[in-house]
Amino acid sequence: MRIVKCNDYDKMSQCAANIIASQMILKPDSVLGLATGSSPVGTYKCLIDMYNNEDITFKEITSINLDEYVGLGSENDQSYKYFMMQHLFNHVDMNEKNINVPNGLEKDTAFECERYDSVIENAGGIDLQLLGIGHNGHIGFNEPCDTFKKNTNCVCLTQTTIDANRRFFQDEKDVPRKAYTMGIGSIFGAKKILMVVSGKDKSEVVKRAFFGPITPEVPASILQLHQDFILVGDQDALCLV
Ligand code: F6R
Repeated sequence: MRIVKCNDYDKMSQCAANIIASQMILKPDSVLGLATGSSPVGTYKCLIDMYNNEDITFKEITSINLDEYVGLGSENDQSYKYFMMQHLFNHVDMNEKNINVPNGLEKDTAFECERYDSVIENAGGIDLQLLGIGHNGHIGFNEPCDTFKKNTNCVCLTQTTIDANRRFFQDEKDVPRKAYTMGIGSIFGAKKILMVVSGKDKSEVVKRAFFGPITPEVPASILQLHQDFILVGDQDALCLV
């Protein structure tokens, strides 16, 4: 595990974008595992700037997003597909065919989970996985649990996650209760894992996940065992480590 401490959110975002850009330059047809949420927004902005400066291209990139809310389609402005279009894909030369997000409208859970695992497998696995971390230690939407879930699964979100996601919705009752998420096995199978973390409110969970015991009660803790895991955080998030 490598830790990079940055002065603030902007520096963290630039550092993470540099790592992703170098992956894209070294392997233009990389498979990128991508995340939503507030942590990677700055990283996506920096990648768009690099694209506009003609430093990188997304032409041959395949993206496989971590998760999607059950019940939300891609035109819903709270869906993760919509988020990705707004924050990254609409601004770069990404081939729409190569964008993968779980289908939140698929009612057959077993079908969708198997389909998404095949997407990952058929892409040849993930070259670089970008992650954020939840206050409860979740990665993707793999919530604290008594086992590490290997494959794509449909999860009931915990109250902590519902509360954290509340800020994006008008009403608490609009916050989806379920989500499809890539499994921990698929995340861990990525050749390189890059986590971005920012803010004092994440400092406790960073300490628990990366300096505490490895346990499915803190799903991110498994990343301690990954051979190429980089944690890029701002000073506030890394203040306890
Ligand atoms: C998002 C995701 C989640 C978030 C996490 C942190 O695709 O999978 O695990 O990374 O909830 O969210 P933010 O960055 O909003 O604090």
